[in-house]
Amino acid sequence: MQAGATTQDSSDKSVVLSPPSAAQTAQRIGVPREVFPGEKRVATVPEAVEKLIKLGFSVAVESGAGDAANCSDDTYRAAGATVVDSAAALWDGSDLVFKVRPPSVDEVALMREGQILIGFIWPAQNPDLMQQLSAKKVTVLAIDSLPRMLSRAQKMDALTSQAGVAGYRAVIEAANAFGRFFNGQITAAGKVPPAKVFIAGAGVAGLAAIGTAAGLGAIVRANDTRAEVADQVVSLGGEFVKVDYEEEGSGGGGYAKVMSEGFQQAQRAMYAKQAREVDIIITTALIPGKPAPKLITAEMVKSMKPGSVIVDMAAEQGGNCELTEPGQVVVKHGVTIVGYTDLVSRLAKQSSTLYATNLFRLTEELCKTKNGIVDVNMQDDAIRGLTVIKNGEVTWPPPAPKLAAAPAPAAAAKTVAAPAAKKGHGHGGGDSEPMAGNKLAIMFGVAAALFWLIGSSAPKEFLSHFTVFVLACFVGYMVVWNVKPALHTPLMSVTNAISSIIAIGALVQVSPWAGAVDRPNDLISWVAAAAIVLTAINMFGGFAVTQRMLAMFRK
Ligand code: NAI
Repeated sequence: MQAGATTQDSSDKSVVLSPPSAAQTAQRIGVPREVFPGEKRVATVPEAVEKLIKLGFSVAVESGAGDAANCSDDTYRAAGATVVDSAAALWDGSDLVFKVRPPSVDEVALMREGQILIGFIWPAQNPDLMQQLSAKKVTVLAIDSLPRMLSRAQKMDALTSQAGVAGYRAVIEAANAFGRFFNGQITAAGKVPPAKVFIAGAGVAGLAAIGTAAGLGAIVRANDTRAEVADQVVSLGGEFVKVDYEEEGSGGGGYAKVMSEGFQQAQRAMYAKQAREVDIIITTALIPGKPAPKLITAEMVKSMKPGSVIVDMAAEQGGNCELTEPGQVVVKHGVTIVGYTDLVSRLAKQSSTLYATNLFRLTEELCKTKNGIVDVNMQDDAIRGLTVIKNGEVTWPPPAPKLAAAPAPAAAAKTVAAPAAKKGHGHGGGDSEPMAGNKLAIMFGVAAALFWLIGSSAPKEFLSHFTVFVLACFVGYMVVWNVKPALHTPLMSVTNAISSIIAIGALVQVSPWAGAVDRPNDLISWVAAAAIVLTAINMFGGFAVTQRMLAMFRK
């Protein structure tokens, strides 16, 4: 089904595998059944098939490919896909092949020149596979090599979507192995304390685990060597536990670095304390390309309460816990240690749906013309990053992103710090700094002149009110500034209610002590009465709205 001739090209040029022309037929996307033992995911789901067809492609799915992810052959057919009986026929008839796991040796043997393969490849870990694919003269887009720092790439970020599912599932596995509720309860049969969960590593999977455990009502604590994630931990309902040692753990690009011995010692002490206190530990600590750091020692496991649970998400990389057995659930010292390496596959429908969306978004980027013909545009940063082989030529690793080409660490720190400071003040380019300073000086000058004018000419009574007004503005500003932005709207409605000070004035006007009974038809009394009615709406309405909004934030 190859739609046209393949252009042999130099590495960084746009490659149109099939130059678009009216005479060309649309390309076919093939989705084989995953052959890795126990893999339940499928690379596309019926909902995504419909969208791919709208992009102009035809879609073929190997019979049974989606069975384990609750996507039957019939649902694919209903979405417009062709269901093919054999893997050989599927691979042979497809211009693009969507996969989840890297292809097996047998699958590589089924490939033919000019085909495009999209899926997880892990080129650094699989040099032999890279060689085999290169020899086949195919084009390979490794979804794991997507440059994640590009905001445009987020919709295609399968590492994130899959790790999020894994983090969720890790909590569910922990809940399954744990003998108690996650949330605290007060029942007729007694008081149940909430479970305490500690998450080691707050990357994508760790954050998903924090959100899930907090959602189930547990007390959640987390630690990460990168201090920048502390806010994210808190925003998801967790508490960030710091290591009592000053060292920045960010190695750039959102990943961690190996920490000093001093830090590691302090971290071990803190983890030992947490192990004694908490009921569940979920470990997700990882530095790409390195074996998983051993954070939970056998001693720490021993110190945990009987019935506690550890879910070691890093089991595949050797585990964060000394006693983990990859792929197994074991009980040691009364603690259940879950070392599953297939957490994503254990939620196959969800992970397949998210993965299918990631691949659909990538296909959109590859086929901007929506004519069912792919253009692997190497000028596009995202596409360049994930294209690891192009027509047999290995293009991995990609050139370093321009932003990361900092000369020395010290200089890099400065360049990072400078824009951040500017961002905080809301200014753009470097030249605007002195401008901003000048503007501020002018503003202060004008304000000082104004105050001097008022102070020298205004009557005494006015000045005392004015002083209170200025102080109130200052205090009000400081109070609002310290409230989380998410709570600004409820805060506004409550201040709205409180600010109905008008009610006091109106009450004074209608009160008998102010002589209102002596002037029953006085216009002022009627206006005051109307003011009380309107203000009451403002006051009680404000409180009611606040109540409703705050309810949205309560669990
Ligand atoms: P990530 O790179 O986004 O997060 C790892 C986090 O660990 C980072 O925030 C990093 O700063 C932190 N970290 C590194 N060293 C640390 C240390 N010594 N102490 C505390 N924190 C440390 O990775 P992601 O995507 O969240 O994945 C986490 C782990 O889960 C990985 O090991 C990954 O292979 C694994 N995983 C396992 C699955 C399974 O089925 N078991 C499925 C998906 C992911």
